[in-house]
Amino acid sequence: MINNYSAKTGSPVTDLETPALLINADLLDANIEKMATFSKSKDINLRPHFKTHKCPTLSHKQIVKGAIGITCAKVSEAEIAVNSGIKEVLIANQLVTTEKIEKLVSLNRHSKVLVAVDSIKNAQDISKAAAKRGLAITVIIERDVGLKRCGTRSLDESLKLAQAIEKLPNLQMAGLMGYEGHTVFLTPVDNKKDQCRRAMETLLETKEVLSKNGFTVDIVSAGGTGTHEITSEYNGITELQVGSYATMDWKYKETGIDFALALSVLSTVISTPEKNLAIIDVGLKAITAEFGMPVFKTPTGASLVSLSEEHGTLQLNSDASKLSVGDKLELYPTHGCTTINLYDTFYVIRNNCLETTWPIVARGAVR
Ligand SMILES: Cc1ncc(COP(=O)(O)O)c(C=O)c1O
Repeated sequence: MINNYSAKTGSPVTDLETPALLINADLLDANIEKMATFSKSKDINLRPHFKTHKCPTLSHKQIVKGAIGITCAKVSEAEIAVNSGIKEVLIANQLVTTEKIEKLVSLNRHSKVLVAVDSIKNAQDISKAAAKRGLAITVIIERDVGLKRCGTRSLDESLKLAQAIEKLPNLQMAGLMGYEGHTVFLTPVDNKKDQCRRAMETLLETKEVLSKNGFTVDIVSAGGTGTHEITSEYNGITELQVGSYATMDWKYKETGIDFALALSVLSTVISTPEKNLAIIDVGLKAITAEFGMPVFKTPTGASLVSLSEEHGTLQLNSDASKLSVGDKLELYPTHGCTTINLYDTFYVIRNNCLETTWPIVARGAVR
């Protein structure tokens, strides 16, 4: 652990060494509760994405509130989740190398770990590795629904893949996934609804074709934080693989998503070298600018105009209350997922004081 500063339980936020990743415990709990209540009201399963927070403690909170398991992007994330006692994981991505497929099979000795496939060759490789160990692996077919990333590109291709899987030993096909990631930030809402409808129609059409051909399609997984309300209106979608809602970020807030901003980064003013300029100790190695500049939690009369590796530059407006060296400022990241991955630890804050810390165990788990 490199950032090995001791932080005393109960100490005020402003005593924490910076940069520090903060999570507001009350807001986090409220977000988890809200999505859990929503999914129950829609009678749809919740399998929250682990890639957002990469923190098993937080996943267990989601499971306690009713999530059926978690979704992961990488097998290295799945390994950490399984080792923390999570019993069902969907890897919503393709594992194509021998070592990753071997790991997938090994993990299935401990928990049920499903994986997405979009090619016959990949299914054959998984089947071979599973047969060698005498285990059965469950796969779901990834269908591209417009994101143009992984996934089968046609009904015919999806059907042929299902037919091939059926013939392979030690492989079971449980259903489908189709992530409508190209629609999650769209505004206005009517445009988002329209694009999302097209995506869900593609996914559900695929389900229908598989069902008509005698395949059991128990799982149809979709949904992002920006689209979960729309996606869950479609009959036949069985689960949501939402991630960002728990911590939230400014990009989602900006597009009108009604979850609370639980995540922030604490910075310190380290220099005020000119009348209208202040510098903070948070740069690109401590917060992402992927979706635009971070935003101050409390207006300071200043705006963040640039980030370099270790510095953030603030332009102070003429009517700004003067910032002083040593002042602590909280920032909302525009993207939570790529900011959290920069840190080892969440500082868990309640009533402006440090309640506990949670290790971000899967930080950097990108394999
Ligand atoms: C495959 C997949 N599913 C679900 C999600 C969750 O999306 P969100 O964080 O918008 O809820 C993502 C996010 O990138 C994703 O890539």
